Amino acid sequence: MLDFPPTNLRDLRVSYDLDSLTEDTAPADPHVLFNLWLQDALAHELPEPNAMTLSTIGQDGGPNSRTVLLKGLDERGFHFYTNYESRKGRDLAANPQAALTFLWTDRHHQVNVRGTVRKLSRADADSYFEARPVGHQIGAWVSDQSAVIPGREWLEAREVEMTTRFGEGPVPCPPNWGGYTLLATEIEFWQGRVSRLHDRLRYTRVEGGWKMERLSP
Ligand SMILES: Cc1cc2nc3c(=O)[nH]c(=O)nc-3n(C[C@H](O)[C@H](O)[C@H](O)COP(=O)(O)O)c2cc1C
Repeated sequence: MLDFPPTNLRDLRVSYDLDSLTEDTAPADPHVLFNLWLQDALAHELPEPNAMTLSTIGQDGGPNSRTVLLKGLDERGFHFYTNYESRKGRDLAANPQAALTFLWTDRHHQVNVRGTVRKLSRADADSYFEARPVGHQIGAWVSDQSAVIPGREWLEAREVEMTTRFGEGPVPCPPNWGGYTLLATEIEFWQGRVSRLHDRLRYTRVEGGWKMERLSP
């Protein structure tokens, strides 16, 4: 018989009472509201405020989720960077439909985004890659992301190999590394409220703008 978890999970709960989200105060464009909530997370110094769960559709039809970092947001969508040959890269090549979830627990905020992903340009990849710390740049060459490897030693040996290969010179962006952008078709904002009667506003992209609807919590 397993003796965990140490706490009774059934008694763990938070009362959500910080704010409300109403149709008359919500902006017409969900990106404006997203930006306000991201700024709010930054202002409250939440850990990794740009971390988001990226869900893709696996080639076996099942879902795959993992955390990635939001690195930009513009008219092209929500940007993130990764290895194009990773599992997520292979999932997206086969099916560009994906979802993002942002959770800012301390602010009682969740945002769910659905949409279609496409690659950012090589120029975007080069420009972002150049701004990364050298160790991260080397790491991108070392890691065949998502591949099964023999052990930690293999990884560390490759790190030595790549560090020697690039020496003191600039580390170029690997050809299989780059950005994606998710263009939203739907963005849902969840504001925690008391008694689990949360506010949920869902924006759906329509001809020339966005439709807003309230969802039952
Ligand atoms: C906070 C956090 C941020 C991360 N950011 C990224 C990222 O921006 N890009 C990335 O490729 N992996 C990132 N990762 C690692 C991914 O979660 C994941 O392990 C990796 O991308 C391989 O996923 P895949 O095998 O599904 O392709 C991050 C992990 C954490 C915990």
